[in-house]
Amino acid sequence: MRVLGIETSCDETGVALFDTERGLVADALHSQIAMHAEYGGVVPELASRDHTRRLLPLIQQVLDEAGLGRGELDAIAYTAGPGLVGALMVGAATAHGMARALDIPVLGVHHMEGHLLAPMLEEERPDFPFVALLVSGGHTQLVEVRGLGRYTLLGESVDDAAGEAFDKAAKMLGLDYPGGPLVAKLAESGDPARLRFPRPMTDRPGLDFSFSGLKTHTLTAIRALEAQGALDDQARADVARAFEEAVVDTLVIKCRRALDQTGLKRLVVAGGVSANVRLRERLEHECEKRSARAYYPRGRFCTDNGAMIAYVGAQRLLAGESDEIGVMKAVPRWPMDTLEAPSSASA
Ligand code: KG4
Ligand code: ZN
Repeated sequence: MRVLGIETSCDETGVALFDTERGLVADALHSQIAMHAEYGGVVPELASRDHTRRLLPLIQQVLDEAGLGRGELDAIAYTAGPGLVGALMVGAATAHGMARALDIPVLGVHHMEGHLLAPMLEEERPDFPFVALLVSGGHTQLVEVRGLGRYTLLGESVDDAAGEAFDKAAKMLGLDYPGGPLVAKLAESGDPARLRFPRPMTDRPGLDFSFSGLKTHTLTAIRALEAQGALDDQARADVARAFEEAVVDTLVIKCRRALDQTGLKRLVVAGGVSANVRLRERLEHECEKRSARAYYPRGRFCTDNGAMIAYVGAQRLLAGESDEIGVMKAVPRWPMDTLEAPSSASA
């Protein structure tokens, strides 16, 4: 089955073709980062307009790369949420329009389920069950994954997501959007011994996260350095380092707990922040200590992309799911624990 995947939930237009026999055949992406950078964050209306401009040419590009005509597609999967509603609508309308014209099934996919299963696109893919740490700009969640659609939320952020915290810290440090990779880069030249930031919610049991206090702490530290006339490049790097250490340490502590609590030996790390090198190094080390194993998507599939949507769509379509053509789904808020296993899947 050849499935076209469409992702337009935020600031990346992603398209891919996944073949259930051949695997991922082609994928293409247009990032709007440069367009939003001058505003310091995503401007929803500009995002929708740009998806409208980019989507059809990207679909053509993917079909050309795959050497396929539209008529050779078997189904279409698109991101139905969560995300920016106007941006989601562009993907939903295109997917339903194509499905009607080609008379093929269409399915709305959950964006975070895409991130969660993105490591399945790799040669070294995890078997079920596993623990997944989902860390993106909008979500920080620990999930026990027993199969497709069989997810138990173990813990999540009660306020800011880890990626959001990185982006806000970047802003305080005068860096561009999205800040995660820039804070990580600046942190490389930071002195880890100079400042120590708190590890929120690690001193009590449980698997929830909170990053908003850390954000305030970061701002206070920057202001204090400023007041002393000491906020030079090195001090900025030291703040970035202390911030990154605190976020990474917090995530690692909770992953360790989740592995202990579930007794599982496989850890999947996905979503934009999973591109963070220090986080990966620390998790690798942690997994080695307990003869567990960590799995990640390749770099470009850590952040938003069409491949993960094509993959999840293909698995669910194979299991017999599809939506009524013309009934578009664009759901800004959609808790992942409301997802279900396809009814034909074994329990
Ligand atoms: O998954 P994603 O592309 O979009 C959402 O669904 O939110 O994640 C984007 C987030 C941004 O907050 C970005 O700053 C963060 O991932 N990010 C990073 C790194 N690369 C991207 N955070 C820390 N270190 C990185 N290397
Ligand atoms: Zn995402």
